[in-house]
Amino acid sequence: MALRGPHLLGIEPLAPGEITAILDLAETYVTLNRQPDKHGDALAGLTQINMFFEASTRTQASFEIAGKRLGADVMNMGVAASSVKKGETLIDTAMTLNAMHPDLLVVRHPHSGAVNLLAEKVTCSVLNAGDGRHEHPTQALLDALTIRRAKGRLHRLTVAICGDIAHSRVARSNILLLGRMESRVRLVGPPTLIPAGAAEWGVEVTDRMEEGLDGADVVMMLRLQKERMDGGFIPSEREYYHRFGLDAEKLALAKPDAIVMHPGPMNRGVEIDGTLADDINRSVIQDQVEMGVAVRMAAMDLLARARKARPREVMA
Ligand code: NCD
Repeated sequence: MALRGPHLLGIEPLAPGEITAILDLAETYVTLNRQPDKHGDALAGLTQINMFFEASTRTQASFEIAGKRLGADVMNMGVAASSVKKGETLIDTAMTLNAMHPDLLVVRHPHSGAVNLLAEKVTCSVLNAGDGRHEHPTQALLDALTIRRAKGRLHRLTVAICGDIAHSRVARSNILLLGRMESRVRLVGPPTLIPAGAAEWGVEVTDRMEEGLDGADVVMMLRLQKERMDGGFIPSEREYYHRFGLDAEKLALAKPDAIVMHPGPMNRGVEIDGTLADDINRSVIQDQVEMGVAVRMAAMDLLARARKARPREVMA
């Protein structure tokens, strides 16, 4: 099973079989990544450019490592030192890089929809590494791989996604993926941080942690994304932690074997207790980071195969 399209822009267009294909291939890369020699050749001869218009630690580092492990020439465009600072538009920057014949363009951008727009203008494969509040497909895929390894399946699970849902592309991509794989999603957070219309997404919504965590298999905490907030969404961080911060006491409401997830970066003591985040018996946060490299290797491998199957001219 291969990917149908030339790009990975979101979970939205993916069929369950495509999601499973990425996760199955990623499993082989988890094994490779644990060997002393971590080199594959799926991207040998190809050029990968990472364009990050927003801060990133995990995502950018893992895309870079993933590309290098598979033999690609990887270039990180330093946006701060680029002509973007001189006012060049996103599309002009992308067209300039496209003229250098990259094969894979990995893009993170603060505006929802910017990465899809860019994909229409270039001739290479585009991977969305997070666009505004819209989608972050490789995050949802790495979360899915982490869940599948911990729980043995992706269907018939109850997943509580807690916190700042309104500003989160991670939540959106996870809701789409988990729904597609037939798991049940509960959104938990203060009404100010739950997007209008969320109840129509086929999820349960509550502002009470007791209700949201009850019987959950997976508890996924989200960062309070202050950089996307243009006003007061919470009374105070202290009160937020009291009501919505995950600690051992609140986790006891979930199933006894429930796992704790967080995409990072974490605000310890705001959305999650630091000791719980570090508790390797409950927290799979470091596994998520490990799965991130494997999933990105798998996604780029499958896109490269799709490109080989479909020559440049017919890609659209
Ligand atoms: C997330 C992001 O950038 O959307 N981080 C990540 O990719 N691991 C979540 C966040 O910034 O809170």
